[in-house]
Amino acid sequence: SSGRYLLHHGLLLPTVAHTKESLKYAQDFHVEDTDVFVVTYPKSGTTWMQEIIPLVLNGGDLTPVQTIPNWDRVPWLEETRTALVVDHLTSPRALATHLPYQLMPASFFSSKAKVIYVTRNPKDVMVSSYHFHKMASFLDDPGTFEEFMDKFLKGKVLFGKWTDHVKSWRHADLGDRILHITYEEMNQDLHGALRRFSDFLGCNLSEEAIDGIAHQCCFNNMRKNSMSNYSLVPQNIMDSSKSPFLRKGEDTASTKQMCSIAHLFFMNNSHVGGLLIPEQICCHG
Ligand code: PPS
Repeated sequence: SSGRYLLHHGLLLPTVAHTKESLKYAQDFHVEDTDVFVVTYPKSGTTWMQEIIPLVLNGGDLTPVQTIPNWDRVPWLEETRTALVVDHLTSPRALATHLPYQLMPASFFSSKAKVIYVTRNPKDVMVSSYHFHKMASFLDDPGTFEEFMDKFLKGKVLFGKWTDHVKSWRHADLGDRILHITYEEMNQDLHGALRRFSDFLGCNLSEEAIDGIAHQCCFNNMRKNSMSNYSLVPQNIMDSSKSPFLRKGEDTASTKQMCSIAHLFFMNNSHVGGLLIPEQICCHG
């Protein structure tokens, strides 16, 4: 209708970065065994991981995060940029994706590529997304918070319903190819999260290297990094005077209303693929 979105297997994607061709490219993408996929539902910590994973993989060398914009450093598999930059990625390659499990490239399923899946409390995802829709001119106006929440709960938002996404990536076939972590765990103990990434990816980072990466990737430093804070995007496309991209980086839903709504959401959805959603992403008011 507005031309701002296209439908991909029932999922709403923004046409600013997705085309039929880019989605075909993603489907046919040749996944290598050494590839690392950062997988997220939108607004769950993607940009944070685009900073972290290259540093973990290269032992803490700051050059890429200081010289390459996040969308080219760890490109989104399904977006138009990937075809343009893929040849410049160093091995092991790090790629991001918001795709649900079943829409991954055919070659992914037979590969040994690793996956780090970041889950964030859905009420904060919803709040973050609401503000993002206000500042991004390539997305429809979110309307009132209540209107947007209704869409969010029904899954009539980018990349569909939160629970469907989380559930899809809890797929048993992935075995030890996948590491699950929450945004909240990363916020509580970034050093510990980095240790887990290093172990999972076989990087053997020293404590000093991890401290250095944690410093670079903390909210305040990332907020200042023009290669990661979206300030390179023209204001008529993303207007940071309406809401900065790195907005708060914290548990934002403090109002009673949001908590009770999140509570309702969990009452209907707390069992995801037979697994209970981790305690730390639930809302306790
Ligand atoms: S997107 O558009 O899907 O790529 O967005 P995404 O990067 O997944 O999510 C954006 C939110 O992540 C927060 N963020 C961080 N939080 C803590 N620490 C660091 N370093 C960090 N970097 C990004 C960002 O602030 C958005 O959350 P909100 O709640 O809006 O602040």
